[in-house]
Amino acid sequence: MLLKIQETAHFLRSKILTNPKTGIILGTGLGNLVTQITDKTEIPYETIPNFPVSTVEGHSGKLIVGKLGGVDVLAMQGRFHFYEGYDMKAVTFPVRVMKALGIETLLVSNASGGVNPGFEIGDLMIITDHINLFPEHPLRGKNFPELGTRFPDMSEAYSKELIAKAKGIAAKHNIKVVEGVYAGTTGPTFETPAEYRYFRTIGADAVGMSTVPEVIVANHAGMRCFGISIVTDLGVPGKIVEVSHEEVQEIGNSVQPLMTLIMKELIQD
Ligand code: HPA
Repeated sequence: MLLKIQETAHFLRSKILTNPKTGIILGTGLGNLVTQITDKTEIPYETIPNFPVSTVEGHSGKLIVGKLGGVDVLAMQGRFHFYEGYDMKAVTFPVRVMKALGIETLLVSNASGGVNPGFEIGDLMIITDHINLFPEHPLRGKNFPELGTRFPDMSEAYSKELIAKAKGIAAKHNIKVVEGVYAGTTGPTFETPAEYRYFRTIGADAVGMSTVPEVIVANHAGMRCFGISIVTDLGVPGKIVEVSHEEVQEIGNSVQPLMTLIMKELIQD
């Protein structure tokens, strides 16, 4: 694994002239932020050695290096999901490569189903914590001390400092944000009403099919993390209706610019 990470990082270094310290992973259909990146270099995943290739509709699958609000960033437009069949090492490989390239802060976005009865469709949820419900752990197996410690602390998986700063930015722009715990599960089915109730019972505010593996590996690697989840549907008793991937993307589209604004200001000093 170490060699593969080095090989991929080496390849990317040959394509990138900057030294980004901020990495961004954009969720399903959440590519709006990319339109704000200037001085862009785009690197399609299929041209990157050792990278898995994304297959889900709504993912264009490329790495974008450039400036967001003047700050050097390395963004992934489209991620790798466990439900696509990748194992957790593949799902999280790009985060390892980001670390090897010198990324210190990771911003992530996703779409989720809200299970907190106070939430509304279209809410932006700042992720304060997560619950890992994936059946495979990205750190299972041999631990490489070069990458991180065997038993990583997860007491502040999402940076309190970045959360506070993001809330300040949202308040300044009058953007409504909510905060909550994101439960990560495999999908690809959306939840049954009983499952939504279960997620609420165990302490989640929203449920989705991504993010948790990447944030675990980023913490293992000593990166600071920040995440925003767009609540695209509700798993709340009395409000549960049929959900589709298209609707999830539509709702995601409508509020993305607000998320982009928060992230753009978040990375300014
Ligand atoms: N459940 C799981 N993942 C999701 C949902 C949901 O309701 N909405 C968007 N992603």
